[in-house]
Amino acid sequence: MRVLVVGSGGREHALVWKLSQSPLVTEIFVAPGNGGMEMDGVTSVPVQADDIIGLVKLAREKQINLVVPGPEAALTLGIADALEAAGVACFGPDRYCSQLEGSKAFAKEVMNKSGVPTAACAVFKDADEAKNFIRKHKGGLVVKADGLAAGKGVIVCPSQEEALKAIDLIMTQKAFGNSGSTVVVEELLQGEEVSLLCLCDGEHAVPLPSAQDHKAAYDNDQGPNTGGMGAYSPAPILPDEELEKMTDLVIRPVLKHLAAKGHPFVGVLYAGLMMTADGPKVLEYNVRFGDPECQPLLCRLDSDLLSIMLAAVRGELKPELVHFTPKSAVGVVITADGYPGSYEKGMPIEGIEDAQSLPGVVVFHSGTKRVDGKLVSSGGRILCVTALGEDLASARARSYEGVERIHLPGSRYRKDIGMKGIVRLEQLKAGK
Ligand code: AMP
Ligand code: GLY
Repeated sequence: MRVLVVGSGGREHALVWKLSQSPLVTEIFVAPGNGGMEMDGVTSVPVQADDIIGLVKLAREKQINLVVPGPEAALTLGIADALEAAGVACFGPDRYCSQLEGSKAFAKEVMNKSGVPTAACAVFKDADEAKNFIRKHKGGLVVKADGLAAGKGVIVCPSQEEALKAIDLIMTQKAFGNSGSTVVVEELLQGEEVSLLCLCDGEHAVPLPSAQDHKAAYDNDQGPNTGGMGAYSPAPILPDEELEKMTDLVIRPVLKHLAAKGHPFVGVLYAGLMMTADGPKVLEYNVRFGDPECQPLLCRLDSDLLSIMLAAVRGELKPELVHFTPKSAVGVVITADGYPGSYEKGMPIEGIEDAQSLPGVVVFHSGTKRVDGKLVSSGGRILCVTALGEDLASARARSYEGVERIHLPGSRYRKDIGMKGIVRLEQLKAGK
């Protein structure tokens, strides 16, 4: 079978890596790919991840059997609809379903209609109305641009003053362009965050083990939000025994709602959860694998990913197809100094083979490219050093051992990936 993976990040490298292990796969194409994806049987093609017409043309030309879009942009632009019209299978939701990620107001409406617990909210198209609402509200608030804003359109506002400023920034100064012409203002929730990703075939959902991302740039969740500085799985705050119950609460009602609208959801539905004192609440949906959650999750997957994706596309997904190792996995992202602000590119990268010689370590590339055969950095997030271990502590130790073996001038990483899980495990052990 011939597969086309769309995207160029660490998530897509992990997808290519896992799919290339499938006995069913004969050739993989990746558009546009990155410097780490050059392996036997994998061909990078310079078509951008949001060029829907170019991607459909490529899929036809190369007689692709399955397209796997990585990033949300392709999905919200309707790649699944375009591929369906061209008769090519796609492991990803249609444009209607992708609004779950593409429009926060749409996601809220679906959650409210299907009874999914989430923060109370109000939606505004007018800055003055939004401000009047905020002035009447005492506690902290979160102001969100409705549309896609590369993870930056959410402003957490502990005070009324900050919420009013956020409205100015998003609606008046249009910091996120048209994405901010509608805003969602919602109650500020407190708790630990965790991600639940489910494989979906339109009707059925099979949960993957839990994962936890680290969005802030610096240790102890300090500094600006990034695309994700590291992730691990499982997260003890959402143990395996609770996955089915959580899927019943936050995923299955949404699948039912979308199917009733005539848009069965196929692909990965990802719920970003806040575990509050009042129970779990959904912060957001993504309609794809998370980056970097995908990297540790796929390291733990023992089953054939292509068979799973094909079953999902055919509406025949079964839990028996999906097996995970009970081991833990930790992925630490190495970024350019300065990221998520401005940073340098073109730094030489060495030591990847040395890191990968450690048992259970795989280094996934994000912002890398090859120049005259040499690997150099080409983005903010550069590598994700991922390791399996018998438990979270050993996976963490091995992942950081791998990080130490990589030489990348002008780079940095968080030292505390997985620490929340370690602390929780210690508390559980102490009977707290
Ligand atoms: P989102 O893109 O909606 O997931 O928001 C990005 C980040 O903002 C989340 O990962 C949370 O850390 C934070 N956030 C979003 N909504 C809320 C909320 N209602 N209360 C507290 N924090 C939130
Ligand atoms: N790691 C969070 C995301 O992919 O949106």
